[in-house]
Amino acid sequence: MVGFPSAAVGLTSLTQMPRVIQLTDLHLRARLTARVRGIPVWVTLRAALAEVARQAPDLLVLTGDLADDAKQYSYRELREALHDWMDRVRILPGNHDNRDILRATFRLGRSTLGFADRLGGWHLIGVDTVTPKRNRAQFGADQLDWLAAELADGHEPVVLFTHHPPVSVNTWWLDRDLARDLKQFQKILESTDRVRAVVCGHVHHEVFKRMANSDVFMTPSTAYQFRLGSWWPARIDNGRPGLRILELSEDSLETQVVRFGA
Ligand SMILES: [Fe+2]
Ligand SMILES: [Fe+2]
Repeated sequence: MVGFPSAAVGLTSLTQMPRVIQLTDLHLRARLTARVRGIPVWVTLRAALAEVARQAPDLLVLTGDLADDAKQYSYRELREALHDWMDRVRILPGNHDNRDILRATFRLGRSTLGFADRLGGWHLIGVDTVTPKRNRAQFGADQLDWLAAELADGHEPVVLFTHHPPVSVNTWWLDRDLARDLKQFQKILESTDRVRAVVCGHVHHEVFKRMANSDVFMTPSTAYQFRLGSWWPARIDNGRPGLRILELSEDSLETQVVRFGA
């Protein structure tokens, strides 16, 4: 039996346009001075969190690859770094993460790490796309059933969060990670006009695409950036770290990437 989060978790009562920040692909290591592909990942995370403090979001969504080494100490340090935001943090795993350690460290009692929240007239749903020990994504039948039920419940516009993007980015070594059950996910998206956007990570780059009736936004890593289109796998470029801000008004979504330095 797969345990899914109950829907309609109410957040704070809002007097202004809800603001959500997405951080993705932190790739933290247990050593706080570690550089991953030349980037001091804890320094760039601190810069990201300074921007989070400036923006004061209503929800902070972390879309996976939180720890590059999947070690408990890395997750513990991350939890400490997020201390001021813990009541409004939502977490999805990435292919680099250890779901069990992540769940234990952040005291998440669920067997998947999805979430569902209602915020300022929007329905925000996180879908776990990780197959343990594989780079390739998979939603899984239980979770797809849960997602379909969430989308059948209510009329608010929806933002979906995932680690893996559900579309090609024309880069073979990233496109091979597309979910094996992508067609079923696509069918669900085509069956509704509620999903305004899918917001994801994994590609370490800012990319915009369309899928079914939805916009698809991919977001830079808070650490290193991939060179899309490169023939050689996992080549990086010198793009700056970034995060994504989403502002949700009554029936429209505005989003932008904010970059920051190390
Ligand atoms: Fe990543
Ligand atoms: Fe990833």
